[in-house]
Parts: sequence; C-alpha cells; structure tokens
Amino acid sequence: MKVGGIVHVPGDKSISHRALILAALADGTSVITDILESADIASTASVLRTLGVLVPPLAARIEIAGLGRRGLHAPTQPLDCGNSGTTARLMAGVVAGHPFTGRFVGDASLSRRPMHRIARPLEAMGARVTFEKGDGLPMEVQGGALRGIRWESETASAQVKSAALLAGLVAGVPVVVREPSRSRDHTERMLRAAGAELDIVGEVVRLEPVARLAPLAMRVPGDPSSAAFIAALAVLATDGALTVPDLCLNPTRTGFFRALQRMGGRIEFHLGAPQGGEEMGTLFAWPSALRAMEFGAADVPAMIDELPLLACVAARAEGTTVIRGASELRVKESDRIAAVVQNLRAIGVTAEELPDGLRVTGGAGALSGAVRTFGDHRIAMAFGVLAALPGSTIAVDDPACVAVSYPAFWDDLRAAVSA
Ligand code: S3P
Repeated sequence: MKVGGIVHVPGDKSISHRALILAALADGTSVITDILESADIASTASVLRTLGVLVPPLAARIEIAGLGRRGLHAPTQPLDCGNSGTTARLMAGVVAGHPFTGRFVGDASLSRRPMHRIARPLEAMGARVTFEKGDGLPMEVQGGALRGIRWESETASAQVKSAALLAGLVAGVPVVVREPSRSRDHTERMLRAAGAELDIVGEVVRLEPVARLAPLAMRVPGDPSSAAFIAALAVLATDGALTVPDLCLNPTRTGFFRALQRMGGRIEFHLGAPQGGEEMGTLFAWPSALRAMEFGAADVPAMIDELPLLACVAARAEGTTVIRGASELRVKESDRIAAVVQNLRAIGVTAEELPDGLRVTGGAGALSGAVRTFGDHRIAMAFGVLAALPGSTIAVDDPACVAVSYPAFWDDLRAAVSA
C-alpha cells in the first residue's frame, strides 16, 4: 500500500476547550483561529452559552467577548456536556468558583465516567458537589467563596489538575497541585500566556491568585492525537510517506510518536517557531518494519489517548507488545482495554487483557471481522487504520462517532492512501 500527501489535521482538542474557557473568563475580546470544529468542542461552547457567554458558531476564526474572571451568569438550564469529559471536568472547576449552582449532564458514556476525582478537590476548596447516583453525571456543583488548596492528585490527569486550577483562578485563591507524573500542561501554558503567575517544579504546579486574564490572540495548533492516526497509517504502509504540518509538538503529548520510534518506526519532526506557548512543527512518517516493545506507567501520560492505536499498530509488529500502568483506559469514553482486546480478537489478532493494560502479538496475516466502537471515537479511528491496510476486511459499526474529535477522519484516511 502506498501513502502520500500532506495531511492538515484539525485543531488540538485539549487546547480548543481551554481557548474557549479562558476567552470566556478574560477581560476583553479574544480572537481564536483554527479551533477544532467537532462535537466535543461544540459541547464546551454550548455550556459556556448556557452560562451567558456569547460564543459564536465554531468557525475558522471566532471572536469571544469575555465576561471577566468571575463574570459568568447563573444557568437556567442544565449544562449539557455531551460526550466530553474535558467539558464536564474543566467547567465543574469554573462553576465551583462562581456564586451559583450548575447541574452537569451528559450522554450515556460520559454519565458512566468517574467525577469524584474532581469533586474531591473542589469540595476541599469549599464547593458542594452532589450526585444522584454513584459518582457520574448528573452532578450538581454549588459554587461560592472558595479557599486555596494544596492537592495531591492520585492520577496523572490534566482534567483534575485543570479543574482545581480553574476553580482557583475564578475564586482568586492560590492552588497547588501535585501529580504522580506530569500530565498535559496546556492549561498552565495558556494561563501564563494570559498573564497568570504559575510556578512549575517537576510534578508540582502552583497558581497564584490572578486579578484579571488578558484576552487571547491564538491560533490552535494541529492535534497530535489526530496526527497519530496518520503517522500510524504511514508506518504500516509499504511505500510513500505522509507529512503533517502545523502540529502541536508539546512533549506532554508526543509520547505516541516516541513509542513508534522505539518500535522502529521512521518518524521525524522538524520544529518550527512556537505558537501561543506551544512547540510547533511538521511531522514526517515513512513505512517501517516494526518490532514489539514493552511500555509502562512512565510512558502512559504522554500517549494516554493513543494507547488504543498503539495496540492496533502492535498487531502488525514482530513479537508481543505489552502495555502496563494504563488502568485509566478503563474509564475513558469506553473501557478501552476491554474494547481494544475484544476487537483485536474479533479480527483475528492474539490479544489479552491485563488489569492495567494489555498484551498484543503481532503478525502479517490479513485482518477481517466486525469491530464494535462502543461509540468511542478513538476505537473507531484506531481500527479504521487497520481497515485501510491491503487485504483487510474490517467493518466498523459506528464510523460517525469520529465527529467527537476528528470529523474529516475518514476522508483524510482515504486521501492519504494514494495507491
Ligand atoms: C484531556 C486530558 C486527558 C485526555 C483527554 C483530554 C484534557 O484526560 O485523556 O482526552 O484535555 O485535559 P485525563 O486528564 O483524565 O487523563
């Protein structure tokens, strides 16, 4: 199979959520270009609208007039987060710092995901968080005057870290978060760019009280989690090359590309000028002979969303790949350990679940069978890459679920396979 061309992946999902949120809390008008136009970002936009912010329809260039650091309005309707965990968790922090109550709801997948991880630090700051059942949505966050905290997070989670930082930002109190290992740091970088004072030492972040946030003028870089599918397609091809320009190359996000390199993948980055405090560049990927590798807890945070894809790539590598230290995968949009293993087996690959990861034995035989996405965009795309390989006859049950993060995925995949 030959691949070729330049693939412009859509704007980064994590940065797009944060751009909308910080623009809403700034004093003045922000200009955001190349924001991700996807269902998850539409969820954050719609929650902000329910809180009184005039967010225009998502487009290549949008302007948002901020309401100020503590200027959101009490909602008169539930805050519908759709499928988006980032919307629910980050906006829970924002609501916690305001003197009103917000009721968070979401789809069936999001309603099963754990919210105690953000409820606990927000309650320690003085908010009240209540659940109807268990620790999933619906969730009510009653905000108010908060106190500063020093929080030891049990998981390396940017969503937990960001919920606490945003609550502190809105409430004007200091927040210190320590994580077991460093999660993506876009919130910290963007807050700094908007004038906030942050101290970052190792895994500890400290945010000082902020009087006001400056409006943003930012271009959202390409999403490395979307580019990962393009890079995987290139290394699994037999001829050609693929190029992804204008990509966010923040090291807290590029673990998948490093993992591919360790497996023998020919991947190169050319760093360009940074943008909005984020490393930027172009990625080049070529067909490669891959060998199996072992990955552990230290590798996981920088490629957490790419692990389903890594497991699919491992199905074409020589030997048995082991991924451990990744129990977080069980509480993503689906139980990604169970979903990946079930689907790999369904298409004829030897794979096994581990409590905190999985084992996959690679091979070169044709892959065929039916894949269930469980409504999870990253499962659909990871198996979509295997389905594009010659000889594969793989049916993906819900291809439309890619709309959450990469609406043009199937078109881009088709265009990249040039022969
Ligand atoms: C995200 C953080 C990660 C990631 C998610 C996006 C973010 O989740 O899996 O897709 O934008 O902060 P956790 O913080 O729960 O690890």
